[in-house]
Amino acid sequence: MTEIKEFARAFVRSPLHTAALLPSFPPLCRQAIAPLPDSGEPVVVDLGAGTGSVTEEVQTRLQGRGRHIAVEFDPRMAAVLQKRFPDVEVVCADAHRAVEDLLAAGVRADLSVSGLPWLVTSPRERTIFPLLARLAAPHGAVTQLAHAWIRFFPAARQVQRNLEASFEEVVVTRTVWLNAPPAVVYVARRPRGGYRR
Ligand SMILES: C[S@@+](CC[C@H](N)C(=O)[O-])C[C@H]1O[C@@H](n2cnc3c(N)ncnc32)[C@H](O)[C@@H]1O
Repeated sequence: MTEIKEFARAFVRSPLHTAALLPSFPPLCRQAIAPLPDSGEPVVVDLGAGTGSVTEEVQTRLQGRGRHIAVEFDPRMAAVLQKRFPDVEVVCADAHRAVEDLLAAGVRADLSVSGLPWLVTSPRERTIFPLLARLAAPHGAVTQLAHAWIRFFPAARQVQRNLEASFEEVVVTRTVWLNAPPAVVYVARRPRGGYRR
């Protein structure tokens, strides 16, 4: 309950950054992490982690394997995250900055799962997707959550175009109705320009 209250408070403080009144429901989170392999030691970067809906599903799937980095720039939500998931590396920072630091440290992600809002994904010159394409491991995937009812708004269409500019394959999942509001997931693979170390 604390996490739902904290999330709703964040929405009231900053609706454009929080971009949802409620955290994502488990079926949507599971859809967003579907590319995560069941074996091995995958690296997961969980962007705009909020109070941890996606984070919880990633932790359940990893069962102690691999590495899980959660990025959230609201300090109150980041504190909730770290308390809920002491084994997750919580980075309280702007997503662009955090990904640049990960790239500089040589990290490559098997899955980057993003709940980041339009402010970070939609502006063509400042979208985070080129950075996520560089962060992707060979065979890695990037997923982006999106509310279904606004998918055809100009800003949302630009999100899809930005993804397509950075990845050779972008697939939109079926609508997950068991979410408030219903949502889809964009699944992007094969960064354009090949794999760069
Ligand atoms: C729609 S919520 C998604 C939360 C969670 N992943 C979920 O699905 O319930 C978007 C989150 O992104 C965070 N956020 C917005 N802009 C950000 C940025 N530039 N860097 C890092 N986090 C950001 C917000 O604070 C918010 O927690």
